[in-house]
Amino acid sequence: MATPCVLWCLVLADLILLSSGAELVQTSPSYTPLCPGDRLVLTCTTTTGAAFWKIPGHDNQAEEILGPTTIEGLMLNVTNKDGNTVTSTGIYQSISVSLNGSQVSCARENSIIDPQFVTITINITDPPVAVTDISINPINDSSIFITWLYQQNIQCIANYTVMINVGNVSSQYSSIEKSAISALRTDLS
Ligand SMILES: *[C@@H]1O[C@H](CO)[C@@H](O)[C@H](O)[C@H]1NC(C)=O
Ligand SMILES: *[C@@H]1O[C@H](CO)[C@@H](O)[C@H](O)[C@H]1NC(C)=O
Ligand SMILES: *[C@@H]1O[C@H](CO)[C@@H](O)[C@H](O)[C@H]1NC(C)=O
Ligand SMILES: *[C@@H]1O[C@H](CO)[C@@H](O)[C@H](O)[C@H]1NC(C)=O
Ligand SMILES: *[C@@H]1O[C@H](CO)[C@@H](O)[C@H](O)[C@H]1NC(C)=O
Ligand SMILES: *[C@@H]1O[C@H](CO)[C@@H](O)[C@H](O)[C@H]1NC(C)=O
Repeated sequence: MATPCVLWCLVLADLILLSSGAELVQTSPSYTPLCPGDRLVLTCTTTTGAAFWKIPGHDNQAEEILGPTTIEGLMLNVTNKDGNTVTSTGIYQSISVSLNGSQVSCARENSIIDPQFVTITINITDPPVAVTDISINPINDSSIFITWLYQQNIQCIANYTVMINVGNVSSQYSSIEKSAISALRTDLS
């Protein structure tokens, strides 16, 4: 019974693309909200032979993208042209927190009568909060086993740094994993 739905979905997707004349998607990364420093790739598809982008920090006016250009840190380019179907991309090499809440838009034409802009709002994750449920278990005279819990934004964690002070000596350890429940077994001798 799925077949009619598939057909309808295709028809609806086509209608949506046609009615707005543009489609703007986040090609990479696959998740949102974004982590600070992520490389963000947005792709706009139009069916009128032209592509206009509105860029955060740029004046209110939309820019027609004809080839490679960089505006306010957004690297724009036309990556494919097939008849009237134009594929353009906008890339932030390293997204900064100051762009949080900013909007990037794309349209098939820059007309006051027909301002069919499709928009993506940039959403950047909050800074990490403290870990909880820290437990420290001695294994023997020289080794300890530490576990902890982290419940937010696990997507944006690369690893954890553990500082251990013994007497006047401070040592730094990095966990390999980035999971919500993490552990570190370390030899202090
Ligand atoms: C722009 O896109 C074209 C077509 O994909 C590609 O050949 C070219 O290298 C790109 N330019 C830049 C600066 O990314
Ligand atoms: C941004 O992400 C947060 C957390 O997922 C969510 O609560 C918020 O609604 C999002 N904001 C926008 C503008 O998408
Ligand atoms: C980004 O904006 C969202 C939605 O307004 C907010 O929830 C979040 O705290 C902001 N992130 C940062 C890093 O300020
Ligand atoms: C303590 O335990 C660690 C981890 O199991 C082990 O590698 C180390 O040899 C042990 N040290 C002593 C002195 O038993
Ligand atoms: C932990 O993450 C940081 C930041 O990405 C990186 O520089 C460091 O090499 C990582 N450490 C390990 C053990 O993977
Ligand atoms: C720690 O440092 C103080 C002052 O530099 C020194 O007097 C003391 O002996 C040191 N303790 C150890 C265990 O190294």
